[in-house]
Amino acid sequence: MKWLITGGAGFIGANAAKRLAEHGHHCVLADNFHRPGAKFNRKFLSATCNLPVHYLDVRYSDQVDDFFAAHPDTDVVLHLAGQVSLVASIENPRYDFDTNALGTFNILEASRCFAPSARVIYSSTNKVYGDLFSLLYGESETRYTLLDYPQGLPETLPIELHGGYSCSKGAADQYVRDYRHVYGLKTVSLRQSSIYGGNQYASEDQGWVAYFVQMGVENSPYKISGTGKQVRDLLHINDLFTCFEKIAVLPDDSPAFGEAFNIGGGPSLSLSLLELFDVLRARYGFTMTYTAGPPRVGDQKVFIADVSKAERLLGWKPEVSIPEGLDELVTWSRRQWGR
Ligand SMILES: NC(=O)c1ccc[n+]([C@@H]2O[C@H](COP(=O)([O-])OP(=O)(O)OC[C@H]3O[C@@H](n4cnc5c(N)ncnc54)[C@H](O)[C@@H]3O)[C@@H](O)[C@H]2O)c1
Repeated sequence: MKWLITGGAGFIGANAAKRLAEHGHHCVLADNFHRPGAKFNRKFLSATCNLPVHYLDVRYSDQVDDFFAAHPDTDVVLHLAGQVSLVASIENPRYDFDTNALGTFNILEASRCFAPSARVIYSSTNKVYGDLFSLLYGESETRYTLLDYPQGLPETLPIELHGGYSCSKGAADQYVRDYRHVYGLKTVSLRQSSIYGGNQYASEDQGWVAYFVQMGVENSPYKISGTGKQVRDLLHINDLFTCFEKIAVLPDDSPAFGEAFNIGGGPSLSLSLLELFDVLRARYGFTMTYTAGPPRVGDQKVFIADVSKAERLLGWKPEVSIPEGLDELVTWSRRQWGR
């Protein structure tokens, strides 16, 4: 199969490309190297699987059209290019909008014109559900809990777009689903929870698991926002990759096309920040020294995905345990940042 991957030098893109190449697929990768870590992943892909990453800025339709026109035999478009930080989206809303909303629109239009039979997979986000402040929460020693959703949060939650990143990703999510209904494109929108794994060049405000692992490896003190009882479900990159592969081989008339899916680890693979720090101390001997500040505006107290729709329509569910996933990330992080 031929895969065209935007954001190919990003964390998810580089991991997906490496595994696809190992599985004998043909990958064409594009990125504008906006993210600082992208240049390292570019080198990694060249060294490990001889895969080049081509320059492409999804904000510009002429560049996108030329790129797609050169690859009309594409079977799967994996659209990962994105501005990924909420903080950066507020500092530079135009770049955020142009990349996430307009960039995704450009990818959909190019797919419609140059690769109309391809499957189009979009990496959306659970941030399309907003701050979720209207839900009922409990509180234990180490975490907040969702009182009304023991199986996690379903796709039927109302969409609530607040803040640049959430608005631009939510607009894109809507277009992705609509291109199925209006033009018949085989699109799927994956509303991803926290994805973690090696090759993630994280920052304080994006990629929290990799960021805290790096702080542990470096033995650096760090700051957190809020109490640390905020909970997320974690999905290891290998599980997300399996999800991509399942979508690639869905039958043409699958009811999954045009749909959005909450894609995360679910209740059994969830951790609060405090719980993650405890695991990192106990399993790897990290010190994990932090100071707590005020909560981030609009930060969800808990997001745990209900993955039953994905299980039903995609035949997918997460399988990588947290210790197994963290071992992989810590090994990579020690190689990168170990002293
Ligand atoms: N990692 C997560 O936990 C997570 C969670 C939810 C959603 N997502 C979404 O998944 C996608 C991939 O995320 P990631 O974690 O690999 O992030 P990443 O930042 O590592 O990768 C995104 C890539 O897009 C590239 N890019 C940015 N602007 C671009 C532009 N205008 N044109 C072309 N390329 C551009 C960056 O250089 C980077 O390599 C993003 O769309 C993100 O919003 C990720």
